[in-house]
Amino acid sequence: MPVTIGALRESTPQETRVSLVPEVAGKFAAAGARILIEHGAGERARFPDALYKSVDWADSPGAVLAGSDVVLTVQPLSVGQIQQLKPGAVVVGYMQPHARAAEVRALKERGITSFAMELVPRISRAQSMDALSSQASIAGYKAVLIAANQLQKFLPMLTTAAGTIRPAQVLVIGAGVAGLQAIATARRLGAVVEAYDVRSATREQVKSLGAKFVDTGVSAEGAGGYARELTAEEKAAQQEVLDSRIAAADAVITTASVPGRPAPKIISRAAVERMRAGSVVVDVAAEQGGNCELTRAGEVIEHQGVSIVGAVNLPAALAYNASEMYSRNLLNFLKPALHNGELKIDWSDEVFAQACLTTGGEIKHQPTAKALEGKT
Ligand code: NAI
Repeated sequence: MPVTIGALRESTPQETRVSLVPEVAGKFAAAGARILIEHGAGERARFPDALYKSVDWADSPGAVLAGSDVVLTVQPLSVGQIQQLKPGAVVVGYMQPHARAAEVRALKERGITSFAMELVPRISRAQSMDALSSQASIAGYKAVLIAANQLQKFLPMLTTAAGTIRPAQVLVIGAGVAGLQAIATARRLGAVVEAYDVRSATREQVKSLGAKFVDTGVSAEGAGGYARELTAEEKAAQQEVLDSRIAAADAVITTASVPGRPAPKIISRAAVERMRAGSVVVDVAAEQGGNCELTRAGEVIEHQGVSIVGAVNLPAALAYNASEMYSRNLLNFLKPALHNGELKIDWSDEVFAQACLTTGGEIKHQPTAKALEGKT
């Protein structure tokens, strides 16, 4: 029996992306899978039903959940949706294991095999499956466009008959995947860009994109190539240098985060008050609590003339390309388990083993098991 791969119309109102775009549905079908899609699944990402060929249609989310062996999602399934899955079904998508205790318990109790895209190991072989990176890159790009829109200034230098216009100064804090794309985008638009990250490895990456690296004398490499939390002394040293660069910037894009922790607070109220009126902060870490003390997730606030954008789900604002990239990440993840239309997961493959959140009635991801069950 060929495996049935299902995709839903996302039920979160703000979620415009779709987990399965027509191109990827075709590739799964070519690999022998049957595809079951809820009507209108791709509509908000501008993939109308008519573009999906050789797929079966479902009129309700329940029909997809009950009729699929593998369900592909963008946002985590709700507890109610998990209850409707087939026994032994597989779910692949974002799971937010830190924040979704009830959902993780439901996945465990129902014996669902769940793969969290957040947990795909960031090894070279898995780059084509790395949804964190594909979506972060979109967020970095969009953040700069939001800043450009908010500013009452040009980004590039212009020499015009009405005189010369100075280029805008953009400061990017956090030079991971989102930050590097923000730097590249701001540079393409002609801004003068500075960037800062606690990981010293980013210094060369920042420079190679034509931006200046802000040196605070603090370096904080953590495990697995990520950053660690800073000590109080390190924070103070970092702050002094950064505050002066923040004050000089027209736009600050912040993307700093530490896995499993609230986003570090890097821009204080006092630092915002030193910025020129008309400047803008776009806080890409808003959903993790924000890098700016004044950020409110999902809102744009103004404080003494400075706009602070609490950006949430930026990839959804570019839903067409974001869905294409995310959907390809899912295909690249699952394809090695598809053999003549049947699903056979090789548990000795570290990608499947590490990305697995729950299977066979157990929570496999140790930090989540520890948080929920006190297991080590
Ligand atoms: P992230 O989203 O967890 O964090 C974003 C950035 O914030 C990071 O660069 C981090 O160092 C920085 N940051 C944290 N605390 C900070 C602070 N107090 N001040 C300033 N900056 C701070 O990270 P992301 O973008 O998901 O990936 C970061 C790492 O993962 C990088 O080393 C990257 O090269 C690596 N990576 C490896 C991949 C692979 O080999 N397949 C794929 C993608 C990322």
